[in-house]
Amino acid sequence: MRIVLGITGSIAAYKACTLIRLFIKAGHEVQTVITPAGREFITPVTLSTLTQKPVITEFFSSRDGTWHSHVDLGLWADAMVIAPATASTIAKMATGVADNMLLTTYLSMKAPVYVAPAMDLDMYAHAATQRNLERLRADGVTVIEPASGFLASGLEGKGRMEEPEKIFKVVTEGAAHHIIFKGEADALKGRRILITAGPTHERIDPVRFIGNHSSGKMGFALAAACARRGAEVTLISGPVALPTPQGVQRTDVTTAQEMYEATTVAFPSHDAAILCAAVADYTVAEATEEKLKRTADGLILTLVPTLDIAAALGQMKTPAQRLVGFALETDEGTESAKAKLRKKNLDFIVLNTLLDKGAGFGTDTNKVTLIGPNGTRALPLKSKHDVAEDIIHELCACFD
Ligand code: PMT
Repeated sequence: MRIVLGITGSIAAYKACTLIRLFIKAGHEVQTVITPAGREFITPVTLSTLTQKPVITEFFSSRDGTWHSHVDLGLWADAMVIAPATASTIAKMATGVADNMLLTTYLSMKAPVYVAPAMDLDMYAHAATQRNLERLRADGVTVIEPASGFLASGLEGKGRMEEPEKIFKVVTEGAAHHIIFKGEADALKGRRILITAGPTHERIDPVRFIGNHSSGKMGFALAAACARRGAEVTLISGPVALPTPQGVQRTDVTTAQEMYEATTVAFPSHDAAILCAAVADYTVAEATEEKLKRTADGLILTLVPTLDIAAALGQMKTPAQRLVGFALETDEGTESAKAKLRKKNLDFIVLNTLLDKGAGFGTDTNKVTLIGPNGTRALPLKSKHDVAEDIIHELCACFD
């Protein structure tokens, strides 16, 4: 996700550093925009070091006179967060005053906006501030309520900016319901999409299995991205510890054979399948009913190949259906991904390689290359939510 972080003149400006760190660690890109008053509380050098991007304060760059386009920033961002937001900035936002870069960016913003007020408790309680916040809410801004403290009168009140961890949670959870590609809200309405996710477990004996590190995060993010676009989603999942995304029909399986059976039965009644599961390529020839005893000798297990779900679906596929596969490699991987694309009769394949830091198993981020008959598109490291958005955007184009 691309985040514009607006910082205004409050003592809480130092907390913006923690917030930036949380966003960057989760794979998001952050562009800071700071008001002239904000600069009194935190230096642009600190912020640019954390974000790896120059801080925007003025309409023109003081270094080379380049114009900073608030309109471009409004189109670039997936979310705008103003933290800390002073009473003055809140009042200006509520009335449409545009006398600095942060406010013009707000007025040009196409993405969801979040505001985390930070001020003296009495200022926050004042009717004028509350009126302005009500106006912002009416304009669709999410107000992240400040934490509680004590007013000068001794009564309890609010004003201290909410902690960065809470702001991060509100913004990223809000983004989970956000479609990056505008105008795609109903793009899969009336379509049925089948998705496989997670690992498989191949039984050795009642206490042991052969498995892999798939957490299911990538496949579940794909299921959520399809559901957001109005699709009826069937998710066939191996053993994972994730909640089912809203509006998704889930079937749990354990072994590659069970996943094969559930997927091949379901595919004919679906418009597309996305095979994200890390399915075992081999299973144990003869699992034992009793726990294998430890002996002084070595143990030799005979493994036999599992059925290839992607190849089976590739053969069943009708001209109206679409099939998307994944390729997980430990080298650069393009050639073997292209071979899988052809062999399994896929419409496109998503390559991720464990050579890339932050890609593949378990992480909240991924770095993928989309490979189709018309070419190859390498995407930067992003959150799995955003990678899913890119993949489903590509799938929508396959139906055109
Ligand atoms: O779950 P996460 O922790 O979020 O991690 C995501 C992921 C790394 C598991 C995911 O991004 C991914 O790469 N999934 C595919 C893993 C894999 O098994 O790749 P592969 O190159 O071995 O298989 C190629 C394709 O054939 C895949 O679409 C796979 O689902 C499919 N396959 C493989 C074996 C088999 N018996 N049947 C299959 O359908």
